[in-house]
Amino acid sequence: MSAPGTSTSTGVSPDEAGDESATTWATGVPGTASVVFPVSGEDLLVGEGAPAVRHLLSIADLGRDGILEIMRLSDAFAEVAERPIPKVPALRGRTVATVFMEPSTRTRLSFETAAKRLSADVMTFTAATSAAVKGESLRDTVETIDAMGIDAMVIRHHASGAPLRVTDWVGASVINAGDGTHEHPTQALLDCYTIREALTARRDGEVPADLKGLRIAIVGDIKHSRVARSNVLAFTALGAEVVLVAPPTLMPASLEGWPVTATGDLDSTLGEIDVIYLLRIQSERLGEVLLPSLDEYHWRYGLTRARADALKRDALVMHPGPMIRGVEISPEVADMPASLVTRQVRNGVVVRMAVLFHLLGSGVI
Ligand code: CP
Repeated sequence: MSAPGTSTSTGVSPDEAGDESATTWATGVPGTASVVFPVSGEDLLVGEGAPAVRHLLSIADLGRDGILEIMRLSDAFAEVAERPIPKVPALRGRTVATVFMEPSTRTRLSFETAAKRLSADVMTFTAATSAAVKGESLRDTVETIDAMGIDAMVIRHHASGAPLRVTDWVGASVINAGDGTHEHPTQALLDCYTIREALTARRDGEVPADLKGLRIAIVGDIKHSRVARSNVLAFTALGAEVVLVAPPTLMPASLEGWPVTATGDLDSTLGEIDVIYLLRIQSERLGEVLLPSLDEYHWRYGLTRARADALKRDALVMHPGPMIRGVEISPEVADMPASLVTRQVRNGVVVRMAVLFHLLGSGVI
């Protein structure tokens, strides 16, 4: 059995011509109709030593050792970020293309900043101003970009499995910047780094080996969340306990094999968790009425001031962004010191420098 979310399946729909009529490719993608999400603690341990990876499609491509290697590299790039000129020549002569078929603020800008701080050239593709609006297929689009001579393609697409299909069509390293409801691996990596950073500060500079001993609640639209899938893999690979909290309509139909517990009762978990990780309600993916109203969601599942007061004194509050204030989090809680949201964004740059360097670098920073 392959590890969850790995890119080993040979599912080939839509066809090789790049038909984009389907929104999900059968690629071993968790949470989609064609596959299960067979996760266990053992599956996540990919092997001894950080694996050499050409593409980053899933957290499972890295496993525990690869995640820890990204954390180590991120520490080095965090030191670079503090310099008056926060730039190194590590990827001079390399070209990184960002190919975003869905909107993004954080991920696209931080990948582009990361590539520039590594001295790579950056090529930006935006669907709305491209030949994609004239009907060009994904395959023709990525083959065109690849033909210009690139080393890495950072791709976001509404279809789960799209980045895996792209690996068949381009010579460049492919990095998944979020595909449908499948995964968003670099979000999970920056989240792990941000928690590790907060623990380090709490321990007077002693860096924890992993996240063992932490209980992390992921709250909200688990069903549609690629962030949740990557974070379940990453947090549990580092030894944390994960509890998923959502109304039944926003929980995946089956959690068989997920190394998590699940509940619909947020209030009963608040005093027992070390991290509360809130997810955005993805109105664009709901497609059906899964919630009576956003107000009711906020009343049952939003992190209000009263709920924040019920958390452990040193609990961390996280959100991948974009936050919808007044739905999953109240404005005053979003701006509390316990909220790591801005820190997550800041760390996104150094973690993505680490990812680009891990995939493309020569070992010399
Ligand atoms: N967290 C995240 O993926 O944000 P963007 O959609 O702004 O990239």
